[in-house]
Order: sequence, then C-alpha cells, then structure tokens
Amino acid sequence: MSQSRIGIVAESAAGETRVAGTPATVKQLVGLGYDVVVESGAGARSAFADEAYAEAGATVAAGGEAWGADVVLKVDQPTSEELDRLRPGAVLVGMLNPRLDPAMVESLAARPITALSMDAVPRISRAQSMDVLSSMANIAGYRAVVEAAHEFGRFFTGQVTAAGKVPPAKVLVAGAGVAGLAAIGAASSLGSIVRATDPRPEVADQVKSIGGEYLPVVVADEAAEVSSDGYAKATSEAYDRRAAELYSEQAADVDIIITTALIPGRAAPRLITAADVATMRPGSVIVDMAAAQGGNVEGSVAGEKVVTANGVTILGYTDLAGRLPTQASQLYGTNLVNLLKLLTPGKDGALVLDMDDVVQRGVTVVKDGELLWPPPPVQVSAAPAAAPAVPAEPVEPKKELSPQARATRRFGLIGVGVLALFLVNAFAPQPIPQHFTVLVLSVVIGYYVIGKVHHALHTPLMSVTNAISGIIVVGALVQMASDDLAIQLLSFVAILLASINIFGGFAVTRRMLAMFSKD
Ligand code: NAI
Repeated sequence: MSQSRIGIVAESAAGETRVAGTPATVKQLVGLGYDVVVESGAGARSAFADEAYAEAGATVAAGGEAWGADVVLKVDQPTSEELDRLRPGAVLVGMLNPRLDPAMVESLAARPITALSMDAVPRISRAQSMDVLSSMANIAGYRAVVEAAHEFGRFFTGQVTAAGKVPPAKVLVAGAGVAGLAAIGAASSLGSIVRATDPRPEVADQVKSIGGEYLPVVVADEAAEVSSDGYAKATSEAYDRRAAELYSEQAADVDIIITTALIPGRAAPRLITAADVATMRPGSVIVDMAAAQGGNVEGSVAGEKVVTANGVTILGYTDLAGRLPTQASQLYGTNLVNLLKLLTPGKDGALVLDMDDVVQRGVTVVKDGELLWPPPPVQVSAAPAAAPAVPAEPVEPKKELSPQARATRRFGLIGVGVLALFLVNAFAPQPIPQHFTVLVLSVVIGYYVIGKVHHALHTPLMSVTNAISGIIVVGALVQMASDDLAIQLLSFVAILLASINIFGGFAVTRRMLAMFSKD
C-alpha cells in the first residue's frame, strides 16, 4: 500500500475545546511516513495556530480536504453529516463510545469504512500508552482540584502568618482510580490534608505514596477483596451501610469532596446524600466527577454548578479534561500516535490492521463496512494468572494476629533481646559486649528511622545506605587481614552483603535513568 494521508479535522460539538493532533504529534505522524492535512482552525481552541501545524510538516486546508483523507483523526463522535464526508475505504479514529451508544455503532456499520474507537483500547499494560480513558481521567482529576480551589474561599495549605493561623483545608476523595489519584496528588501538593476511600484495598499504598490517607471501609465478616481486573465490583449492602456512615462522618469534617466512583457497565454509585451535604460548612465545595454517569452526589447536575441552601457548591462539570485543552489535546494526540505506531509496522505511511492483535481487535468497531463490535473479552493486566490445572494442595489461610497478640509478640521479642544483651555483657569476653551493644542499638535505631521515612524519600535514603555500605566495605577489608578464620569469614560476608547494596544501587539508578533517555 502506498503512503496514506491523515486528516486532522476540527471538532463540531459545542463546548469541545480539544483537537486530535498538535504540531508535536503531527511531526511524529510525518515521521511514521504519513502525509498530514489539518483542517484550518482545528487547533484554535487549544492554542495551536495553523502556522505551527504547517511548520511541523502538515498541509493546512479547508475541512473538505481533511475529511477526504485516508485516515481521519477526531476527538468526539462524528455527526451523521460528518460521516457522509468520509470517502469509501477511509479509516476513522476517535472516541466513538460504542459501548454505550448502539445507534452510533449502527451508523458506522452502515458505511464502507473502518472505524476505530480510542475509548475501547483494552486496559492491559502494553496498551497503556494508547489508553485515552486514563490520560483524560488524569487531567480531569487534576482539574477537579483546580475547580474546587477556584470555588473555595480559603487556602488549601495551612499557614502561620502575622495576621493569624490558617488551618489546612481537608479534602476527601471518593474513588482512588486514575482520576482520584490525580486529584489526591494535586490536592496534597497544594498543602491540604487529603483522605481517600475505595473498595479496592490495593489502592491503599498508592494513596499513601502521593500524600493521602486511605480510609478503609471495614465490614465485620467481610474480607476486603483485591480486585481481579483492576476495577471495582458492585459493593455489598453491609459495605454500603458502613461506607454511608463513613461519608456522613467525613462530610461533617471536610471542606472539599471530590467523587470519582464508577463501576464499569453500571450507573455511578450514590455515595453522598443530601443529608450529608446539609451537614457541610457553608463555603464547602463538592466536585462530582461521575455526574455524567448519574452522579455520586445527591443534588449534582451534569454540566452545572449548583449552590445548596446551606451554601455548599456542587460542581457537576463533565468537560473537566477539556478545561485544560492544550494538555488534553497533546496527551490525546500522543495516544493516537502510539496507536498509529502499532498500525504502521513499516513506518512507511501504510496502515495495516492486524485482527490477531488484541489491542487492534479491541478498538475495531467496523472493518471495511463489516460490523466487528463487540470484540472478544480481553484478560486485563491486573487479573491474576489462570489457576493451575492440577489441583493444588489446600493452603492454610494466613491468620492475622489480633492487636493484643501482636503486642504480646512485640514485648516477647524485646524481652528476648534484653536478655541476650544481658547475657553477652555478663559472660562474653571484652570487646564482644561493646560491639554487640553497638550492633543492637544500630538495628533498633535503623529499624525505627527507616520505617518512618516517607515513600517519596526512599531514593535519598538509598544513597545514605550506599554510603554506610561503603564504610562497611572499608572496615571489612581492614579486618580481612586478621589471622582469625572466623573474622575473615565475617568480613567476607560483610563485603558481600554491602556490595549487593552498592551494586544494586547502581543497577536501580541505571534503570531509572534509562526511563528518561530517548531510544
Ligand atoms: P473507574 O473510572 O472505573 O473507577 C474509578 C474508581 O472508583 C475506581 O478506583 C473504583 O475502585 C472506584 N469505586 C467504585 N465503586 C466505588 C464506591 N462504591 N466507593 C468508592 N469508590 C468506588 O476506574 P479507573 O480509574 O479508570 O481505573 C481503575 C483501575 O484500573 C486503576 O486504578 C488501575 O488499577 C486499572 N487500570 C489499568 C490500566 C492498564 O493496565 N492499562 C489502565 C487504567 C486503569
């Protein structure tokens, strides 16, 4: 197949600010061997001028030329008139929403075209670079905090000023998926106290690592279940009851609530009731990011700002990603480039669609007029590996110790340590007691100091432990000269262990640097 032409068209939907390509992504498309035509004015609302596209190697032309290209890149669903502008055999790529819009699927299948939907990219690790749901949710989560800060009449961060003390704002984020984590990160970097909920217990560490506090919903007789596919299932009645209590307690305490809770294939779960909203202080702000899917908050209206009788602002904006149009277009455009890289194996401007590839099959709604929706289900990355075919030995479930048993064990261990210290001091010849005391104190202090270091500081911590390992190596090399075989052996082991830390540090640093280097 010869070099194809890609058309980047202007969006017609009211309020749409994004565009499917930016000058930077156009350059990449040209690098893949395509000839690119951009509809004049397509990037105006995302601050990309026609001249910038031309400089990047595109032809800027009227709409007809872009719509007449071999491959048409778009953000939103096309109208039926727009579909009529496609030439037979064209490939249309956009967020076509085939899961929730059967009429759209029908309309696409009625034409001799190929339609690829970016919102249908399977959520597997290999496809992350094309995952528009994640890239848009990330922007939306950040923007939700910006919108909340704009409506909120106070600082997010706490301050001590000459004019008085300002307490930090308290933010609750319900749902710690992609959007929720972005909101937690943004709110905590603004200095607020951030708490988060999610039925998937595996998010607790992620929440903590970006400065939030995870609030588990603990239900008696119900073990928190790690999700099998990365997504939440509908929660149990007991869970919902306890969660409702938690939300009522939190609503009375926090200043900002951002809700992002979604369950695939269902209406958004209702988390915050009108009674909860009524207990919030005047001036508080709620952003209901699930407003378009029915809303997590009673009283939110999709696309609107509502102020309740007690002065709480509820934002139900559904265009949060589009409120950062330049960034959203850049990330969406990059998602498209990554898909096109996959579809252009020869980097020769020839688009090849391979139906044996799960990602390409997943996004294909219609191929040359043939309806291929829905695609076969894909095992997503967070799902555990299939169970072994042979019956496994029954495994005893790991018993969690009660707090009392944990305390007994801790005091028992401390007792054993003190006794060992006493015995060594009383009976061992000098200088063993002296060295042993230093060793025990180092272990205890090291355990508590390192255990309290924040996740974000683990890299500098590693450089400190590398320095300590260096000192150990020097000490052990000096001791190696001893005639005592036991000391020689101990020195050897010390050098070996410290070297693992030093060379491991180099290996980790190399891997981290490789993440930032270009191919
Ligand atoms: P989503 O938009 O479907 O849901 C948002 C959040 O709401 C989720 O964290 C969910 O657990 C939570 N939620 C559901 N019911 C709730 C309730 N009753 N109360 C509070 N929270 C509730 O999910 P999203 O953000 O698109 O992705 C969720 C997860 O999927 C990610 O955290 C990740 O683990 C996985 N994922 C994997 C990808 C990949 O491998 N390519 C791409 C994107 C996501």
